[in-house]
Amino acid sequence: MPTASEIKRSSATPQARSRVAPLKVAVFIAMLYPLARILVLGLTGINGGLGANPIEFITRSTGLWTLVYLCITLAITPVRRMTGITALARFRRMTGLYAFSFAVLHFTTYIWFDKWFDVAEMLKDIGKRPFITVGFAAFVLLIPLAVTSPKAMVRKLGRRWQTLHRAIYLIAALAILHFWWMKAGKHDLELPKIYGSIVIVLLGWRAITWLRTRATRRRA
Ligand code: HEM
Repeated sequence: MPTASEIKRSSATPQARSRVAPLKVAVFIAMLYPLARILVLGLTGINGGLGANPIEFITRSTGLWTLVYLCITLAITPVRRMTGITALARFRRMTGLYAFSFAVLHFTTYIWFDKWFDVAEMLKDIGKRPFITVGFAAFVLLIPLAVTSPKAMVRKLGRRWQTLHRAIYLIAALAILHFWWMKAGKHDLELPKIYGSIVIVLLGWRAITWLRTRATRRRA
C-alpha cells in the first residue's frame, strides 16, 4: 500500500514499468507459496500432511503468514530509503493485499471450518481465549486499507489516504499482541519475541524518521 507521494514518484516511464512488471509477476507467484504448501500437504499427505488437526494447522499457518506479509509491507519503505531502490514502492500494494488476503483466509478458517458459524460457540471461545478479539480488531482495521488500496482511491482521498493508512502501525502492534497472548498461554514465546522485535525495529525506524523530519522542518 504505497503513499500518495510514492504513487506520484512511481509513475515511472513505460520502460521502467515494463522492467519491473516481470519481477512483480515473480513476486506475486512466490507469495502464493504458503497457500500452495497447504494445498499440497492437504492433498498429498506428504510429510504427515496437515497433521492430526488440519483446521488448527491451517489457522496457524494463515495467521503466521498474515504477520509475515504485514512485516514485509512495513519493511518496504525503510529498505527503499536505505538502498535507494525506488522501484520497491511498487510492490507495497501487492504485499499489503496479500497480508489482507491471508487474514481473510485465517478468519474464514476460524469462523467457518472451526466454528461452523456458531456464534454462541465463538463467544464461548473468545471468553476463554481473549486474544481472538485482538486479532479480530486487527482484521477489521485492515478492511478499509484494502478497500482504499487502488490507485484511484489514493488520488481521491489525497492526504486523508495517508492518515488512514497509518492504521497499519496499530494493526502490526495488535497482530503482535494477538500472537504473544496466544503463545503466552502455551509458554512458548520464542516466535512472538522474534516478530515483536522486527515490528519494534520497523515502527522505531518510522518514529525516528518522523522526529528527524519534524526537527528539520522546524529549523527551516
Ligand atoms: C491481522 C489479523 C491477524 C493476524 C496477523 C493474526 C495472526 C495470528 C498468528 C501469528 C497466530 C499464531 C500462529 C502460530 O501458532 O504460529 C494466530 C492464531 C490464531 N488466530 Fe489470528 N491473526 C489475525 C486475526 C485473527 C482473527 C480475525 C481471528 C478470529 C476471529 C483469529 C483467530 C486466531 C486463532 C483462533 C488462533 C489460534 C489457533 C490455534 O490455537 O490453533 N486471528 N493468529
